[in-house]
Amino acid sequence: MNDRRTSLIGASVPRPDAVDKVRGEARFADDLTFPGMLHGAVVRSPHPHARILNIDPSTALEDPDVVCVATHEDVPGTNIVHVIYDDQPALASETVRYLGEPVALVAATTRRAAKRAAEKVAVDYEELPVVDDPVMALEPGAPIIVADPAAAEGGGNCFNKMVLRKGDAEAGFAKADVIVEAEYATGYQEHAYIEPQGATAVPDDLGSIAIYGSVQCPFYVQNAAAKVMGLPLSKVRIVQTSTGGAFGGKEDVPSLICSLAAVMARKARRPVKLILDRGEDVLTTSKRHPSRVRYRTGAKSDGTITAIEVDVILNAGAYQTLSSAVLWRSLCTAAGPYRVPHVKVDARSVATNTVPNGAFRGFGSPQVIFPHESQMDLLADKLGIDRAEIRRRNLLIPGDETSTGQVVADSVGALDTLDQAIEMSEWPSLLERVAAFNASHDDRKRGVGLSSVIYGVGLGGKAPFLDKAGATMKLEADGSIAVAVGTVEMGQGLTTIMLQLAAEALGVPIDRVHMAPVDTSRVPDSGPTVASRGTMMSGLAVLDAAEKLKARIGAVASELGISAEETGTRLPEIASSFWLRNLDPAVEGWAETEPVSWDPETGLGDAYPVYAYATHVAEVEVDTATGEAHVVDFIAVHDSGIVLNRTLATGQVQGGIAQGIGFALMEEIPQREGRLIVNGLTTYRLPTVQDVAPSTKVGFVEAPFPSGPYGAKGIGEVPLMASHAAVARAVAHATGTRVNEYPLDPPRVRALFATVDRPS
Ligand code: MTE
Ligand code: MOS
Repeated sequence: MNDRRTSLIGASVPRPDAVDKVRGEARFADDLTFPGMLHGAVVRSPHPHARILNIDPSTALEDPDVVCVATHEDVPGTNIVHVIYDDQPALASETVRYLGEPVALVAATTRRAAKRAAEKVAVDYEELPVVDDPVMALEPGAPIIVADPAAAEGGGNCFNKMVLRKGDAEAGFAKADVIVEAEYATGYQEHAYIEPQGATAVPDDLGSIAIYGSVQCPFYVQNAAAKVMGLPLSKVRIVQTSTGGAFGGKEDVPSLICSLAAVMARKARRPVKLILDRGEDVLTTSKRHPSRVRYRTGAKSDGTITAIEVDVILNAGAYQTLSSAVLWRSLCTAAGPYRVPHVKVDARSVATNTVPNGAFRGFGSPQVIFPHESQMDLLADKLGIDRAEIRRRNLLIPGDETSTGQVVADSVGALDTLDQAIEMSEWPSLLERVAAFNASHDDRKRGVGLSSVIYGVGLGGKAPFLDKAGATMKLEADGSIAVAVGTVEMGQGLTTIMLQLAAEALGVPIDRVHMAPVDTSRVPDSGPTVASRGTMMSGLAVLDAAEKLKARIGAVASELGISAEETGTRLPEIASSFWLRNLDPAVEGWAETEPVSWDPETGLGDAYPVYAYATHVAEVEVDTATGEAHVVDFIAVHDSGIVLNRTLATGQVQGGIAQGIGFALMEEIPQREGRLIVNGLTTYRLPTVQDVAPSTKVGFVEAPFPSGPYGAKGIGEVPLMASHAAVARAVAHATGTRVNEYPLDPPRVRALFATVDRPS
């Protein structure tokens, strides 16, 4: 494909799902009802670690509204929810390993009755020692809490252990003129999608089951639910309902939720809807992995980085779920978008008796981005080099090697994002303005922060078998065209992008093409909707299908004497000719990434098919008395290749900035003894529109990716990845201190000011 610009590429085509969503007519998981439908509730462990002695449903069953209670004994297939490793039960049988783990299920005629009865299911427990901290969990002699010790590849409680060894780190440090070293910590981040997790399982004829749910990866769910139900894949159908946001939180968890709904539906022989309420969702579903990360960075006096040494520990929670994929991204992203000749990274994900953590926008990368950007500023300050300049001297340029030794040849806009961000923010005069502000204010201080990031688009070398996608396309008898992919719309705009690509490639007006709803029995497996891969992977599959269909349409058109220019408008005639002559109107498209090779022993190789880049600049104002930090201005510049839809891309950036502000400044869930101290969203501080600077500006440098659809890469996660670090660095600048821990909420910022000697 090439990067030619035409009417649809880059155009702000409106979203086809907008009207339904704005009118409240879109049907989300909880909007569906089926004849005879029951409501489910989950009996959950009140302990972070305990042995189950007995489960007694008799009192609950006395309730006339209750239809059935299900336990692990009612799981028809294997009592394991498959994600990556098979260690998590659908329903705990002997041991519970985190507070909120499902132990039993109640199906009743109303949701209220189901919830009430769930409290009456009597479960006897014997409490076991709780390991709530990953560092403690790694200590020799710590109780082993993992469900399957054989699958803990780091031994003991260490689920995953990964290394990256490039060059010789010690030799690199020996060449350095300065070395900076620090430890960083980040905590939980809750996805806070608008719609909580939920699904309805409906027993179909002939022993099949259909599950309608708010899901990000329908084919993951199909696979997991089939195993739990003991059914072949062909008897399990997943239908995606309109999804009210996901952000990675509906990548793994729906496999559990949908399986639980299916177990109840099988036992009750009726449709069962299971919707988590917000408190239950926040307490018991995956979040961003809390991290502890040590960094050592060496540089020459001119700011050139010579070596990094990094140690990453992620708190995985009680089961492995997606931790290996998350950790792998930490490993590959640790060096940032910089040229680093000598790299040593050790990364571990560790089991604790806490909720299993999963993917969250950027998965595993924000935990190393805050450190790598902080280290850049520490080096700059120590060497007396401007913070933008030190980045400029180290950012990857075409022909450079990433930390895994991958040569980046095409589409390397890293430096351009920095230059444009510097220009848009008027960096040198911005620094002067801030200095002048601070000289004349004692009650408030301003600071500016910079953050540059790299993002490997797609799943890459750790799971190359997943980086493929299918698409189908069909010319209907009336001349409209149905397009289907197996990746989903969850707010990010995938549907609109697919329609733009299809119409553009077919050369037909966009109102001729329509996306099919996602139903695993009717759409091809396009892999999961994760890793910002939708545009690239499903997009390429759509283009492949479009090329095939266009050739067929073209052949019929020329037989009818219809010119290429007229084809788009005379589709009804062409379609009826297909129909009258029994011509096959349906095609399949397929896309695969070029083989990536990555060596788990050294961590070296081609980790990802392509990289996206961004640079953000944040300006904050901090109240010296209250410690409140507020973003007053923001510049975000992205290289995600050619922008396919400017409004949608800008929306992705604006939303990501808001989530990054939340991560850096306010979002926190304390955890004690395996208990998360949080009450739904009531006690979880989220950014609102008032926390985002109205002056926020978004820019794009479009370094075309020759192998992407019309030159596009992916953008979905990158905005959140870059924004939090820019905000944190701005707070560090404003306070004149080191900043090593999120969130930078008022108490932490007050404590930072207390460490500074300030003339009064
Ligand atoms: N934007 C909205 N509105 N809602 C979402 O749930 N998820 C993010 C991002 N942007 C998300 C979103 C995450 S985690 C990913 S991986 C990408 O979208 C996935 O979509 P894409 O591959 O189409 O970019
Ligand atoms: Mo996104 S965290 O890869 O679902």
